[in-house]
Amino acid sequence: MGLVNAKIMMKDAYKKKYAVPHININNLEWAKTVLLSAQDMRSPLILATSEGAVKYMGGYKTVYGMVKGLIEDLKITIPVALHLDHGSYEACLKAIASGYTSVMYDGSHEDFKTNLKNTKKLLKVAVAAGVSVEAEVGTIGGEEDGIVGNGDLADPAEAKKMTSLGIDMLAAGIGNIHGPYPESWKSLNFEALQEISAKAKIGLVLHGGSGIPKDQIQKAISLGISKINVNTELQQANAKAIWEFVESGKAKQGKNFDPRKLYAPGSLAMRETVIEKIKEFGSENRV
Ligand code: 13P
Repeated sequence: MGLVNAKIMMKDAYKKKYAVPHININNLEWAKTVLLSAQDMRSPLILATSEGAVKYMGGYKTVYGMVKGLIEDLKITIPVALHLDHGSYEACLKAIASGYTSVMYDGSHEDFKTNLKNTKKLLKVAVAAGVSVEAEVGTIGGEEDGIVGNGDLADPAEAKKMTSLGIDMLAAGIGNIHGPYPESWKSLNFEALQEISAKAKIGLVLHGGSGIPKDQIQKAISLGISKINVNTELQQANAKAIWEFVESGKAKQGKNFDPRKLYAPGSLAMRETVIEKIKEFGSENRV
């Protein structure tokens, strides 16, 4: 099918009450593993890169070329959107110009008026290019690529104003945070989610999807979450598998210095994580 925007997959997930997995990628191993796992599960997929990950991998053209090439060479037939996560206005323009099919404009650190104005301006460019748009109201707590948020709950009235612009998906702060959840964290704020969802009337996005108990994930989906972002859990699974390979002494055996062998346990662990998430999100066999 090749790269598509996220419009149709988001509408279908919202209507049928499941969530599209948004998986952040960091390198070739990540992209390849996530694509193959989602293909095997027949799940729609949003492959995402933060601005930091784009920089790490070389730039927008490199990421676009890599993902497009993998889709063709690996004969991936599920719908895949290549998405910029938490982009500045300028970064969104660059991503669109480089072939990304979906962008998140993160104006959550601006005052709401500026956030709304910039989202509106960006939407014009994105619509003309056939690119889907995610915006944010409230803030997601925690730290991601140096961007730190305190986690302010989204205001339902702001959510309504934002979605009335015609965006495709809305990230809303509902007590979720990026990175590992601290021991003291109890739960998502379902009351806030219900109020925001009633006003927004489009698929909402749950950032910080790593480490949230399954029952909370599924309740959130029943209340209007249609896309769930996962980064940390894959990083942890990959690192743990490689550490174990090294600590067991196996990494020093034979030709295991070959990166294709050294990184293999990490890719296998990430595959298991992606499959588990797809099952939890209910996106299996949707394509
Ligand atoms: P985690 O790293 O907590 O999974 O969050 C990912 C995310 O929300 C990306 O936008």
